[in-house]
Amino acid sequence: MRSGIFICTCFIIMAFIPARGENCITSKCHSNFKKMRILHSPVEDGCDSCHEETGKHKFNPMPDHIQELCYQCHDSVEEGKHIHPAISDDGCLACHNPHGGSTKELLTEDTVAALCFTCHDQDNFTGKHVHGPVEAGECTDCHNPHSSDHASLLKKEQPALCTDCHSDKDFSDGKRHMHSALEDGCTECHSPHASAFQYQLKNKPGKICADCHEDVVNHAAQSKVKHAPVVDKRTCLNCHDPHGSKNDNNLYKNVPELCFGCHNKAMPGPDGRQFNVFRIIKNGTTIHPPVEDGECGSCHNPHGSDINSILTAEFPARFYAPFKDNTYALCFQCHDESLVTTEKAENDETGFRNGTRNLHYLHVDREKGRSCRVCHMIHAGKNPRLIRTETPFGKWNIPIGFKKTKTGGSCSPGCHKTYQYDRITPVKRP
Ligand code: HEC
Ligand code: HEC
Ligand code: HEC
Ligand code: HEC
Ligand code: HEC
Ligand code: HEC
Ligand code: HEC
Ligand code: HEC
Ligand code: HEC
Ligand code: HEC
Ligand code: HEC
Ligand code: HEC
Ligand code: HEC
Repeated sequence: MRSGIFICTCFIIMAFIPARGENCITSKCHSNFKKMRILHSPVEDGCDSCHEETGKHKFNPMPDHIQELCYQCHDSVEEGKHIHPAISDDGCLACHNPHGGSTKELLTEDTVAALCFTCHDQDNFTGKHVHGPVEAGECTDCHNPHSSDHASLLKKEQPALCTDCHSDKDFSDGKRHMHSALEDGCTECHSPHASAFQYQLKNKPGKICADCHEDVVNHAAQSKVKHAPVVDKRTCLNCHDPHGSKNDNNLYKNVPELCFGCHNKAMPGPDGRQFNVFRIIKNGTTIHPPVEDGECGSCHNPHGSDINSILTAEFPARFYAPFKDNTYALCFQCHDESLVTTEKAENDETGFRNGTRNLHYLHVDREKGRSCRVCHMIHAGKNPRLIRTETPFGKWNIPIGFKKTKTGGSCSPGCHKTYQYDRITPVKRP
C-alpha cells in the first residue's frame, strides 16, 4: 500500500510545479488539505520533500518503513528500550497524518485520548472514579506514545511518576517512614486510570491490605473479641496511613494519643459500668508504668483478641475467679508469679504480707479467688500501689479506705472493720 506508485486522480490535471505546495492544493485538487487547521511544515513548503515526481504526476513509491522518510528530518522516536507496538506494527501513520490535522502534533484524531482509544478499549479508562489526568485525556502526562526505557511506556519510574504531581506522597527526604508497599509503586493499590472505588483504589480498604497482610486481617476476622474500628468500613485506615507517616507502624498518631482520640469518652467497661480510660489516666496520681510509657499494646491487641477487652493474655473479666496457672497470665508477663503463688513470702515476694503470710496468696490463690481488679486499678489510680479508692460491687461502690504505712497498711472497707497488715511486726488477726 505504502509503496507502489502513487497517482493523483484529479479531474483537472495540473502542470506539476515542483516546489510550492499551494500549487497542488486547490479547491479541486487535494482540497482536503485546506480543511486542515494545521499543515505539516514541509507540506507548506511543497510536496516534493516527500513525493518526488518521477514522471508526469507520477511519484516515487513511499519507503516500506515510513520511519525512513520521517527520520530524514526528525530524530528517532524509537530510542527507548520498549517501543510502542503501534509503531513497530503500523508505523508513524497509525497516529500521525503526514500532511496535517487539527492538532499541532498532526494526530489522526482530534485529541490524544481519542487517538489512543482507537486501539485501546475505552472501557478500561472509565469507571465511577476516574483519575484527574485521564479524565482530562492527558495520557501523555504519564506515557511516552513512542518508546521508553520504562515498562508500560512510562515517562518515569514510580513513585516519581506520581509524586511529581502528588508531592505529599514523596517520602524520599527520609523525614517520615514510608510504607514498604510503596517500593513496588503506587499502582500496587491504585489504578492509574480508573476504578469502581474511591481514589481509584483497586479494591475496598480492608481487601487492599489483605493482599499483603493476610495474617493481620485473618487475626482480626477470627478474633472472638473484635475491636470495633478494625471491623468497621474504614477498617485499617482508622489507624494506619496507607502511605507512611512520621510515627511507628505508619500510625496517624502515636500510641497512646491514637487510642485517646477515640477513648476519651465513657464506654461500658468489662463489668458493664461506665469506663473512661482517658479520664482515669489523666486524673491518676499513680500511673501503672506500662501505661505511663504509652505501651497500651503490651496488654491490648489493637487488632482484636480472643480475650475480653482485647487483652494480649488471660485476665478475668469478673471479680472472682478460681486460681489456675494462667488466670492472670496478663499480669505475669511482667510480674513474678511468686507474688501470688508463695504461701509464705519469706523473700520479699510481695509487700502485701503480714509478717511472712502472703496476703496476695490468701486473696487470690483459691477457688473463689479475688481478681487483682478487686483491689487494684489497672491503668492508673489515686492511691499508692494503684489501690482502688472504692470497689464496684453490684450496683454499689464500696469504699476501701486504704492507708499505706512504712511497713504495711490498712483498709477499712465500708462493710466491715479495719484490717491491718505489717511486714515487720505481724498484726494479730482479731
Ligand atoms: C512530510 C512528507 C510529505 C509531504 C511533504 C507530503 N506528503 Fe503526501 N503523503 C505522505 C505520506 C507518508 C503518505 C502516505 C503514503 C501511504 O499511505 O502509504 C502520503 C500520501 C499522500 C496521498 C495519498 C493518500 C492521501 O492521503 O490522500 C496524496 C494524495 C498526497 N500524499 C498528496 C500530497 C500533496 C498534494 C502534498 C503537497 C501539498 C503532499 N502530499 C506532501 C507524505 C508527505
Ligand atoms: C522534509 C522534512 C520533514 C519530513 C520528511 C517529515 N517532517 Fe515532520 N516536521 C518537519 C518540520 C520542519 C516540522 C516543524 C518543526 C517544528 O515546528 O519544530 C515538522 C513537524 C512535525 C510534527 C509536529 C511536531 C511538534 O513539535 O508539534 C510531527 C508530529 C511530525 N513532524 C511528524 C512527522 C512524521 C510522522 C513524518 C513522517 C511521515 C515527518 N514528520 C516527516 C519536517 C519534516
Ligand atoms: C501511538 C501513536 C503514535 C505513533 C505510532 C507515533 N506517534 Fe508521534 N506522537 C504521538 C502523540 C500522541 C504525540 C504528542 C505527544 C504529546 O502530547 O506529548 C506525538 C508527537 C510526535 C512528535 C512531536 C513531539 C515529539 O515527541 O518529538 C514527533 C516529531 C513525532 N510524534 C514523530 C513520530 C514519528 C516519526 C513516528 C513514527 C516513527 C511517530 N511519531 C509515531 C503519537 C504517536
Ligand atoms: C494503532 C493502534 C494503537 C494506538 C492508536 C495506540 N496504541 Fe498503545 N498499543 C497498541 C498495541 C497493539 C499494543 C500492544 C498490545 C496491548 O498491550 O494492548 C499497545 C500497547 C500499549 C501500552 C503498553 C506497552 C507495554 O509495554 O506494556 C501502552 C502504555 C500504550 N499502548 C499506550 C498508548 C497510548 C497512551 C496511546 C495514545 C497516545 C496509544 N497507546 C495508542 C496499539 C495502539
Ligand atoms: C497518571 C499517569 C497515567 C495516565 C495519565 C495514564 N496512564 Fe496508562 N498507565 C499508567 C501506569 C502507571 C501504567 C502501568 C500500570 C501498572 O503497572 O499496573 C499504565 C498502563 C497503561 C497501559 C498498559 C495496559 C494496562 O492497562 O496496564 C495502557 C494501554 C495505558 N496505560 C493506556 C493509557 C491511556 C490510553 C491513557 C489516557 C486515556 C493513559 N494510559 C493515561 C499511568 C498512566
Ligand atoms: C500530571 C499530574 C498527575 C500525575 C503524574 C499523577 N496524578 Fe494523581 N491526580 C492528579 C490530579 C489533577 C488529580 C485530581 C485531583 C482532585 O480531583 O482534586 C489526581 C487525583 C489522584 C487521586 C485521587 C485523589 C482525590 O483526592 O480524589 C489519586 C489516588 C491519585 N491521583 C493517584 C495517582 C497515582 C497513583 C499516580 C501515579 C501512577 C498519579 N496520581 C499521578 C494529577 C496527577
Ligand atoms: C498500600 C496501598 C497503597 C499504596 C502503595 C499507595 N496508596 Fe494511595 N491510598 C491508599 C488508600 C487505602 C487510600 C485511601 C486513604 C483514605 O481513605 O484515607 C489512598 C489515598 C490516596 C490519595 C487520596 C487521599 C490522600 O491521602 O491524599 C492519593 C492522592 C494517593 N493515595 C496517592 C498515592 C500515591 C502518589 C502513591 C505512590 C507514591 C500511593 N498513593 C500509594 C493506598 C495506597
Ligand atoms: C503490596 C503489598 C502491601 C500492601 C497492599 C500493603 N502492605 Fe503494609 N507492608 C508491606 C510490606 C512489604 C511491609 C514491610 C514489613 C513486612 O515485611 O511485613 C509492610 C508493613 C506494614 C506495616 C508496618 C510498618 C512498617 O512500615 O513496617 C503496617 C502498619 C502496614 N504495612 C499496614 C498496611 C495497611 C493498613 C495496608 C492497607 C492500606 C497495607 N499495609 C497494604 C506490604 C504491603
Ligand atoms: C485501632 C487502631 C488500629 C486498626 C484499626 C488497625 N491497626 Fe494495625 N496496628 C495498630 C497499632 C497500635 C499497631 C502497633 C502495635 C504495637 O505497637 O504493639 C499496629 C501494627 C500493625 C502492623 C505491624 C505489626 C504487626 O502486627 O504485624 C501491621 C502490619 C498492621 N498493624 C496492619 C493492620 C491492618 C492490615 C489493619 C486492618 C485489618 C490494621 N492494622 C488495623 C493499630 C491499628
Ligand atoms: C497492664 C495492662 C494494661 C495496659 C498497659 C493498658 N490496659 Fe487497658 N485494660 C487492661 C485491663 C486488664 C482492662 C480490663 C478492664 C479493667 O478492669 O480495668 C483494660 C480495659 C481497657 C478499656 C476498657 C475496655 C472494655 O472492656 O470496655 C480501654 C478502653 C482500655 N483499657 C484502653 C487502654 C489504653 C488506651 C491503654 C494505653 C494508654 C491501656 N488500656 C493500657 C489492661 C491494660
Ligand atoms: C477510631 C477509633 C478508635 C481507636 C483509634 C481506638 N479504639 Fe478502641 N474502641 C473503639 C470503639 C468504637 C470501641 C467499642 C466501644 C463500645 O463497644 O462501646 C473500642 C473498644 C475498645 C476496647 C474494648 C474491647 C472490648 O470489646 O472489650 C479496648 C480495650 C480498646 N478499644 C482499646 C484501644 C486501644 C488500646 C487503642 C489504641 C491502640 C484503641 N482502642 C484505639 C474505637 C477506637
Ligand atoms: C508490660 C509489663 C506489665 C504488665 C503486663 C503488668 N505490669 Fe504491673 N507493673 C509493671 C512495672 C514495670 C511496674 C513497676 C515495677 C514493679 O512494681 O514491679 C508495675 C507495677 C505494678 C503495681 C504497683 C504499682 C505501684 O505504684 O508501685 C501494681 C499494683 C501492678 N503493677 C499491678 C499489675 C496488674 C494487676 C497487672 C495485670 C492486670 C499488671 N500489673 C500487669 C509492668 C507491668
Ligand atoms: C485483696 C486486695 C488485693 C488483691 C486481690 C491483689 N492485690 Fe496486689 N496489692 C495489694 C496491696 C494492699 C498491695 C500493697 C502492698 C504494700 O506495698 O503495702 C499490693 C501490691 C501489689 C504489687 C506491688 C508489689 C508488691 O507485691 O508489693 C503488685 C505488683 C501487685 N499488688 C499485683 C497484684 C496482682 C497481679 C494481683 C492479681 C493477681 C493482685 N495484686 C491482687 C492488694 C491486692
